[in-house]
Amino acid sequence: MAEFIRDLKRTHSCGELTAKDVGKEVILFGWVHNRRDHGGAVFIDLRDRAGLTQVVFEAEAGREMHDLAQELRYEFCIGVRGKVVSRGGNVNPRLVTGEIEVHAAQLAIFNRSETPPFLIEDKIDTAEDKRLHYRYLDLRRAPLQQTLMKRSEMNAVTRQTLNRLGFLELETPFLVKYTPGGARNFLVPARLSPGKFYALAESPQLFKQLFMVAGFERYFQIVKCFRDEDLRLDRQPEFTQIDLEMSFVTQDDVFAAVEELVTALWSEVLGVEIAKPFPRMRYEQSMREYGNDKPDLRFGMQHVDLTSLIAEFKGAGVPMWQSFATAAPGQIVKALRVPASANFSRTETDKLEEIAKGMGARGLARAKIGETGEWTQSPLAKSIAKEARDAINAATGAQAGDILLFQFGKEAMVHTVLANLRLHLGKRLGLIPEYGTPDPKRADSWKFLWVVDPPLFEYNEELKHWVAAHHAFTRPHDESIQYLETDPGKVLCYRYDLVLNGFEIGGGSIRLHDPAVQERVFAAMGISPKEAEQKFGFLLQALRFGAPPHGGIALGMDRLAFLLTGAESLRDVIPFPKTQKGTDLMTDAPGDADPEQLRELHIAVTYKPQT
Ligand code: AMO
Repeated sequence: MAEFIRDLKRTHSCGELTAKDVGKEVILFGWVHNRRDHGGAVFIDLRDRAGLTQVVFEAEAGREMHDLAQELRYEFCIGVRGKVVSRGGNVNPRLVTGEIEVHAAQLAIFNRSETPPFLIEDKIDTAEDKRLHYRYLDLRRAPLQQTLMKRSEMNAVTRQTLNRLGFLELETPFLVKYTPGGARNFLVPARLSPGKFYALAESPQLFKQLFMVAGFERYFQIVKCFRDEDLRLDRQPEFTQIDLEMSFVTQDDVFAAVEELVTALWSEVLGVEIAKPFPRMRYEQSMREYGNDKPDLRFGMQHVDLTSLIAEFKGAGVPMWQSFATAAPGQIVKALRVPASANFSRTETDKLEEIAKGMGARGLARAKIGETGEWTQSPLAKSIAKEARDAINAATGAQAGDILLFQFGKEAMVHTVLANLRLHLGKRLGLIPEYGTPDPKRADSWKFLWVVDPPLFEYNEELKHWVAAHHAFTRPHDESIQYLETDPGKVLCYRYDLVLNGFEIGGGSIRLHDPAVQERVFAAMGISPKEAEQKFGFLLQALRFGAPPHGGIALGMDRLAFLLTGAESLRDVIPFPKTQKGTDLMTDAPGDADPEQLRELHIAVTYKPQT
């Protein structure tokens, strides 16, 4: 008899047979999704990555096959040959294949399965730890399969689009030399150079710039990057970038290429047409109105900066605000207005204060606005000068019933607290969902934004000098170069982030290719030419050999996939992800090293587990 796989090749997937196939002889391969024994006949749903097809094993079709069919259990892997038959009135509207069933004539069990630790269903409440332990079974579930198939499509569209735009797909090494700055590296001992270490590349940054020096003009790579950072919802220790670099371009040219790519992804993978060009916002505005550089523009509730107003009113009579009577650098006062429609109780606003404290705030001053603009339920109410109060109400647009939340002190803390409170309120008031995008097919569910023109340096309080806010090879605005020596904080640069619905999905810059300006940038950070040579020698040398003007960006592929597919966690778009602690529950990585291996590497583990 003809054998499956060798002679009988699969003719269809389990997700495609419909009424128009009735009468055809077909061969299907897949897994037993579930089974029902109805008297004489055994019914199963056969599953593969394309869907489900009902298969019937009737007694009349032969004793041997029918006996074998009775042995079928969850997750057996089988092959079936049979005929497509109409289900008549018994259509299952939930399945693409719901109009038909396959009446089997031949069955082979390729492999039996132990009873799975959880059922392979779309929605399950099995703990994530268990699902990660049996990840290969979790990955049999349709939602994860669909997500990863979308991700595969995203890779294909990325390659097609970037090829069309003249980008070359070139590879860069993972085992690289450690360079300071940037994210913390994973180290890899080098057996052939005892006592020395490679770093795992945190991005192909320096190499892609060398491709430009070498004359490749347009480079891209869908590439793994490794960063030993503390993990968060949107971070993994190894993640994937769509990394690109271009020669002879301005910032606008980079944006045009990225917009072409991102709109192609949304159009071809999701069927949604996003308008180009994407809006832009200056970094300064983003910080002022949203408190961070990745504003979620799906809702308003902007912060209102009251620093100069409080200074104008000499502290407005409020004891806590006396230190703001004269403007001091780095110290600000900001407010957030919660509309009356939120109908917040006192307990609710107390809860907001707890959230603020959880983020490092000392408290959360607040005021409820009364009918004539007076403040109630507020420790500020007694002392605030009436004119100042009216001016604050006007600046924030506060109306009767609204609640004002205040945060004041160090700029960074005020921003962190209010940025997070804004997001919390957005979710609490139903302005944005807890996860995902409620209406992914609507173009206006997707708020893309370029955040541009940030400062080149930030002041490091601990080191007591200026450091690069992103990296030292970012090109300053020409009109800012004059401040490099006199006022480094004023120097703006061609660095940009692409933001989508409050997530940073990409970041890049136009690079500095002028050695003279480069030297001044290093000097502003207190780095001598000798030190710069030691740290970045090979790049600085390469830039002296006729480097073209160039710039680029890297998009976070995992974050793009996470947003596009509406997944709940970054782990859902990565086939074999790490946990929050950076472990792999399936393979049990990281693990102990063999003493022999350690000897070869001249490494001794000094760590002693706490008992
Ligand atoms: P950057 O460090 O901004 O830029 O990274 C680019 C994008 O990669 C994503 N990303 C991450 N995704 C998941 N897990 C992580 N741990 C993680 N870290 C970053 C983000 C981010 O926007 N070489 C520069 C790019 C350039 O200048 O061209 C770079 O790596 O979406």
